Amino acid sequence: MNVLGIETSCDETAAAVVTAGRTVRSSVVFSQIPLHQPHGGVVPEIAARSHLENLPRVIETALAQAGLNWTGIDAVAVTHGPGLASSLLVGLSTAKALAMRLRVPLIGIDHLEAHVYSPVLSPTAPDFQSLCPMIALLVSGGHTCLVRAEGPGRYRRLGWTLDDAAGEAFDKGANLLGLGYPGGPAIERVSKGGNPGFIRFPRGQTHKPANASAQSTALCFSFSGVKTALMYYLKAHPCPPGSPDLASIAASYQEAIVDALVERLRLAMQQEGARRVAAVGGVSLNSRLREKLKQLAESMGLELFLPLPEYCADNAAMVAGLAGSGQGISGPDAMSLDAEPNLEIG
Ligand code: KG4
Ligand code: ZN
Repeated sequence: MNVLGIETSCDETAAAVVTAGRTVRSSVVFSQIPLHQPHGGVVPEIAARSHLENLPRVIETALAQAGLNWTGIDAVAVTHGPGLASSLLVGLSTAKALAMRLRVPLIGIDHLEAHVYSPVLSPTAPDFQSLCPMIALLVSGGHTCLVRAEGPGRYRRLGWTLDDAAGEAFDKGANLLGLGYPGGPAIERVSKGGNPGFIRFPRGQTHKPANASAQSTALCFSFSGVKTALMYYLKAHPCPPGSPDLASIAASYQEAIVDALVERLRLAMQQEGARRVAAVGGVSLNSRLREKLKQLAESMGLELFLPLPEYCADNAAMVAGLAGSGQGISGPDAMSLDAEPNLEIG
């Protein structure tokens, strides 16, 4: 089955064709980063307009690169949430129209479930079913959570962020350091050669709270403290461009975010007793995070699954892949799907 996937939940306009849930025939991502760069973050109005202008061309390119024409498409899959309402609507309306015109099924996909599926988009990876039960650390610009994948369509959120997402913490930190947007790759680049132990920034709360009501947040994240700590540090120790301390300040900031993520993941693995772990989303590209995840996996005897770099950040291959594996909302319910900006996994 050839599924055409469409993804417009945030600032990437993406389309892909995936066969049988695993074989990526094409994956086209039009990044809007240059449009949002002057504003230091994603501007929803600009994102939706850009999706509208570029999606038809992106879909046609995905089809051409897959070597197919319209008759070769067996289903259309689309992200219907979570994300920016106006951006989601562009993809969803386009997908509904295409499915109607092509007389093929429409499949509605949860963006977060698609990220969790991304590590199996490789011919050498095991299929999703055999990966479960698995704990996924989902880290992106809009989301940060720990998810237990019990099997296809069965997900449970174990922890989430109480304030900023990890990618947002990178972006805000880079802004304070004058490194521009997007912040994650900029901080990673500048950190090379820096001393990650130069300053100890807060890691958020890692201890299991003693009282029962706080128990449920034991696996939750908080990144507002590290950002505020950086802000106060820079007020007391200004760091102009070219300062010799910049690499070490950036490396220390990156270390605090990575440690906070890996520590919660370690607690989750202990609690859940699962042996397979994955890290997905744009922040999973970070090489320091990958290094520490490998160390964690070795020390706990876990199997670690990471997506190929092209499927970490937002893309449509993960959307088409998940739909092709039989997951998502299909049948009569699909055509009445609305954009769901706050859709929660599970
Ligand atoms: O998954 P993604 O493309 O979009 C969302 O769904 O949000 O993730 C984008 C986020 C941005 O915050 C960006 O700064 C971060 O991923 N990011 C990174 C790296 N590459 C992208 N963070 C840390 N290190 C990286 N190498
Ligand atoms: Zn995403």
